[in-house]
Amino acid sequence: MKPIRTAIFGTGFMGRVHLEGVRRVESVEVAAVVGRREEAAQRLGAGFSVPTATTDYRQVLRDGAIDAVHVCTTNAEHYRAVKDALEAGKHVLCEKPLTTTVKQAQELASLADRHGLRNCVCHNLRFYPLVQQMRQLCASGELGEILVVQGTYSQDWLLYDTDWNWRVDREASGVSRCMADIGSHFFDMAEHITGLRVTSVCADLQTFHRTRKKPRVSIETFANKLMGAGDYEATPVETEDFGAVVFQMGSRTRGCMSASQVAAGRKNGLRIEVYGSRASLAWGQERPNELWMGRRDTGNAVFIKDPALLAPEARSFADLPGGHSEGYDDTFKQIFRRFYGSIRSAAGPEYPQFIDGLRQLKILDAVLQSNENRSWVNVPV
Ligand SMILES: NC(=O)c1ccc[n+]([C@@H]2O[C@H](COP(=O)([O-])OP(=O)(O)OC[C@H]3O[C@@H](n4cnc5c(N)ncnc54)[C@H](O)[C@@H]3O)[C@@H](O)[C@H]2O)c1
Repeated sequence: MKPIRTAIFGTGFMGRVHLEGVRRVESVEVAAVVGRREEAAQRLGAGFSVPTATTDYRQVLRDGAIDAVHVCTTNAEHYRAVKDALEAGKHVLCEKPLTTTVKQAQELASLADRHGLRNCVCHNLRFYPLVQQMRQLCASGELGEILVVQGTYSQDWLLYDTDWNWRVDREASGVSRCMADIGSHFFDMAEHITGLRVTSVCADLQTFHRTRKKPRVSIETFANKLMGAGDYEATPVETEDFGAVVFQMGSRTRGCMSASQVAAGRKNGLRIEVYGSRASLAWGQERPNELWMGRRDTGNAVFIKDPALLAPEARSFADLPGGHSEGYDDTFKQIFRRFYGSIRSAAGPEYPQFIDGLRQLKILDAVLQSNENRSWVNVPV
């Protein structure tokens, strides 16, 4: 089988995770890495024997032997890179959020469609085996009618006013920080698991640190915790540290969620609970191989990931036997495998596409409007 040749744009946290993840997919070669800084691109490229390492993504797009690209740069950079890549005829896998505005996301979704190119937005967290199992249990009617969805995505890495990252800055992140960055994963998962759509939201956002001490040296994601007392400059902050959203999914199902980057002790605490008229499910990302199942009239149970016990539709999302943990890194392998599989075949994509990225931007837009107006806002279809 002729390998598919791909390129990674961005050399930070996600650039590296994607590079490692792609190398776990059969018959895909990383042909180029693109960084903003020459030295970072060279270092990453050399470490993985990638033939091209450059700061010029357009050079990569001109290479007719490259079939696909991964866009792993800062949020505000996604739109330009994805648009150029689609116009150059490349299949595109873009990190979330797809863009920083609904309008840009609409444009990219129609552009990909017009060019007939595969397009994926990296809501990788759907790809935990037990998240897929939750989706199957909801679809099979095991839970009865879905009454309530609730949960949180809580982290602590921006707790102090000395914590800084490009996400804090509106120019790089977009208008929203916490809701765009991690709230979007929660809503994507809530809709994926239940098969229901968020129809209306009532949100309250808060920026606790209206000024942060920005380091004078550039730092990459999560690296801020390792810095000692340094040289900082006081910088005004407009993006939110925390958000809480009460939401409706159609006429009866109700939900509530919070997203926080200032929750001391919570590292990557995504937790989602689905309460049905017959049974409930609860799952947390920090113990991804355990699924709690609750019932009122019999004992509760904890289901341990084991492909042999998963619903047939969820089984292909688990590669390892029971007792062998599968975690965050594996979700990238699963999503990339399906993305590249779809480039080779005519079968319908089994992964979130740009229209799903657009969907998240519509929810986010409604959340921002709701917070601004202090009122309920409907999410457009
Ligand atoms: N799916 C997930 O679980 C997940 C997790 C973390 C981040 N993300 C997303 O991945 C993206 C990158 O985040 P990160 O955490 O890797 O950030 P990061 O700061 O670690 O890395 C960002 C990289 O983009 C580079 N960059 C910025 N502008 C560029 C440009 N014009 N051309 C080339 N490179 C450029 C920076 O130099 C840096 O290497 C964001 O959109 C973020 O939302 C997704």
